[in-house]
Amino acid sequence: MSWKLNTLSTILCIASTLAAPSPTATTAPAPSFTYNATHFLLNGSPTQIIGGQMDPQRIPAPYWRDRLRKARALGLNTIFTYTFWNLLEPAPGQWDREEGKGIATFFAIAQEEHLHVVLRPGPYVCGERDWGGFPAWLATVSDMVVRSNNAPFLSAADSYLKNLAADLRGLHVQDGGPILMIQVENEYGSYGQDHAYTLAVKSLVQDAFGGDKTLYTNDGSEQWTLEGGAVPGVLAEVDGDARAGFAALREYVTDPSMKGPLLDGEYYTTTFDSWGYNRSVPNTQAFVDDVEYVLGNESASVSLYMVHGGTNFGWGNGALWQGKTRAFTTSYDYGSPIDEAGRTTPLYHALREVIAKYVPEGSIPAVSPDVPLAEVPAFELRPEVGLFETLDPGAAVEAREPLSMEQLGQDYGFVLYTYVHADNASSPGSMSGLLSPGDRARDRVVVYVDDVFIGVVDSTYAHPQNVSVTLAPGAKLSLLVENLGRVDYFSRGTQLPNHVVDPHKGIRGAVRVGNATLHRWSQTPVPLSSLPDLQRGGVRRAGRNETRPVFYVGSFATPDGPGAAGWDTYLAIEGGVKGNVWVNGVHLGRYWGVGPQQSLYLPGTVLRRGDGAGAGAGEKDRVNEVVVLELEPGHVRGGLRGVGVGERVWEVRADVDCPECVR
Ligand SMILES: *[C@@H]1O[C@H](CO)[C@@H](O)[C@H](O)[C@H]1NC(C)=O
Ligand SMILES: *[C@@H]1O[C@H](CO)[C@@H](O)[C@H](O)[C@H]1NC(C)=O
Ligand SMILES: *[C@@H]1O[C@H](CO)[C@@H](O)[C@H](O)[C@H]1NC(C)=O
Ligand SMILES: *[C@@H]1O[C@H](CO)[C@@H](O)[C@H](O)[C@H]1NC(C)=O
Ligand SMILES: *[C@@H]1O[C@H](CO)[C@@H](O)[C@H](O)[C@H]1NC(C)=O
Ligand SMILES: *[C@@H]1O[C@H](CO)[C@@H](O)[C@H](O)[C@H]1NC(C)=O
Ligand SMILES: *[C@@H]1O[C@H](CO)[C@@H](O)[C@H](O)[C@H]1NC(C)=O
Repeated sequence: MSWKLNTLSTILCIASTLAAPSPTATTAPAPSFTYNATHFLLNGSPTQIIGGQMDPQRIPAPYWRDRLRKARALGLNTIFTYTFWNLLEPAPGQWDREEGKGIATFFAIAQEEHLHVVLRPGPYVCGERDWGGFPAWLATVSDMVVRSNNAPFLSAADSYLKNLAADLRGLHVQDGGPILMIQVENEYGSYGQDHAYTLAVKSLVQDAFGGDKTLYTNDGSEQWTLEGGAVPGVLAEVDGDARAGFAALREYVTDPSMKGPLLDGEYYTTTFDSWGYNRSVPNTQAFVDDVEYVLGNESASVSLYMVHGGTNFGWGNGALWQGKTRAFTTSYDYGSPIDEAGRTTPLYHALREVIAKYVPEGSIPAVSPDVPLAEVPAFELRPEVGLFETLDPGAAVEAREPLSMEQLGQDYGFVLYTYVHADNASSPGSMSGLLSPGDRARDRVVVYVDDVFIGVVDSTYAHPQNVSVTLAPGAKLSLLVENLGRVDYFSRGTQLPNHVVDPHKGIRGAVRVGNATLHRWSQTPVPLSSLPDLQRGGVRRAGRNETRPVFYVGSFATPDGPGAAGWDTYLAIEGGVKGNVWVNGVHLGRYWGVGPQQSLYLPGTVLRRGDGAGAGAGEKDRVNEVVVLELEPGHVRGGLRGVGVGERVWEVRADVDCPECVR
């Protein structure tokens, strides 16, 4: 999805100042990438991978070259890349060729910028992505058991890998392209130990990409993770702390067919952010020491995860389960050397100095200038129309028991469940008590009685708030259930309850008020995969005292940027509690006052610049339409404003829905 944010496709895509490589010179031997027990061998010569991870599906396409060029100027020679299956095959058998070809373009640009590529196609990638990159529809295929030697899963994975391979044809080193090697599965040893499964994935990768490709696995540096994840005939590598990892590779990987040069496939440059948790601060000196150790003492290979994290645009983020849902933020800044807006950080410059010691003098190009960050003065967002008013009553599905999001054929967003309390024999009189929304809240349940906000049951707390409801005869109970991101990491070292392993969102299991189970539900999918028409005649405007979700709208004119190439900003929604933001129809992602993310990366690529790119250049062509879905307008004090900030603030703030709750 993210790579499509390219309405201004020319930004920073200025011609490379470096000559493109000519890998197919007629006299050279056939290009190859192999290894022996101690060295990676590129065209037969020993080579050290100095890599970093960036995922094109988290970066606006017009900025790919800028980010890749900055990675090269850090001293890297290789880019490691995950591919997200859910964005490539949004429905069974519906391959998004444009998305796949976009990834191919990213790799071609990497080659033009003198970078090799390591491909990490999963099919499961973890990556703090919704369900580790799996499409949600896998959950609806009968007899499907993901990440296992299971025919429905292997068949779906086979189709995914073959489609991806078709889009990436001609991009492998053997063809003169940049792709050196391909990862098989991802940290599988943390999850399982079924070698029949990993061997099957190895075969699928070879069938799809060709048997001549170099393959590797990447696991945690424990004996059990390496034994579970390493695959005979595939180079075994590790991630995390390199000292522990290399020691573990030496000690626990004994099969010669798995042994080879050392690679730390994910050296963590700080970490992800999740809603309600303080941001981690990078320890630059420790990074410098570690990189010295890998490149110097060990003469080994490394990939910085992430060298540039980018953004989980839209609904892209996943979650962890830690006895509560720990949902990742829209920002995937990661504290990485190249920040979310593509700017170089102090960590970047420190790492650049240390890498320079281990590569030929003068081989690292100069650092290109950053895309400027601009400020947008505060602009008003006015309530336009209620979310529920935009829903098509014909889309509601009736069922005795609640249906999950996936059973409704929906992947992301919200489901609105309604129940009307009838006063008859099965449920006499008024009913009141604690609300229990299924086997657990999946993940954040906003509760309304007769269209008035009552409270929130929020699974990001180990002990969610208790919401009591009273339903008089004829009363309507509405539950708006938000998928905050499916869990993407499962460890067999931790026994996880079934209600966590089950990827279904919405409501699973019985909804109870006190002891009474509620039957006869009406459920309306609210996928918001595109914005509803807010101007459509007949939709009721938002009332003054509205406590149900409301779309707010506003606009701002693109000011002249501080640089000729355009600029970016961070969009903050002042006064907002929780919701989602679209700019010119592009879904930037979620905002949530609890932080630590307090503003959303707004790439200049989605702005209207009045440069003739749109119809009728001029002032009108510079007006950007902002739509904000605020879930809790009843908690908004003094209205909503948008503001573009040049320096972002990271801060955890109190949760208005539960000021005393602790995570
Ligand atoms: C691997 O290849 C390199 C380069 O040819 C060579 O220096 C090294 O000795 C080889 N290692 C082994 C174990 O053969
Ligand atoms: C987060 O940081 C703030 C400010 O430094 C601090 O007061 C607070 O205790 C921290 N919270 C957690 C959960 O670490
Ligand atoms: C790494 O090499 C440096 C310089 O040769 C040396 O001082 C240091 O002790 C070595 N560190 C380790 C962990 O071997
Ligand atoms: C109770 O009322 C509901 C809604 O009017 C109706 O669908 C249901 O059949 C009634 N049940 C009984 C036992 O009368
Ligand atoms: C909700 O109520 C249950 C018992 O009914 C209690 O164990 C739990 O701590 C309560 N949660 C909160 C957040 O107070
Ligand atoms: C309702 O639940 C309470 C405990 O939460 C229990 O004491 C009571 O017996 C239950 N009532 C019925 C009718 O099942
Ligand atoms: C809004 O709610 C307040 C407080 O409940 C009430 O005084 C006021 O009349 C309401 N306004 C409208 C327009 O309903």
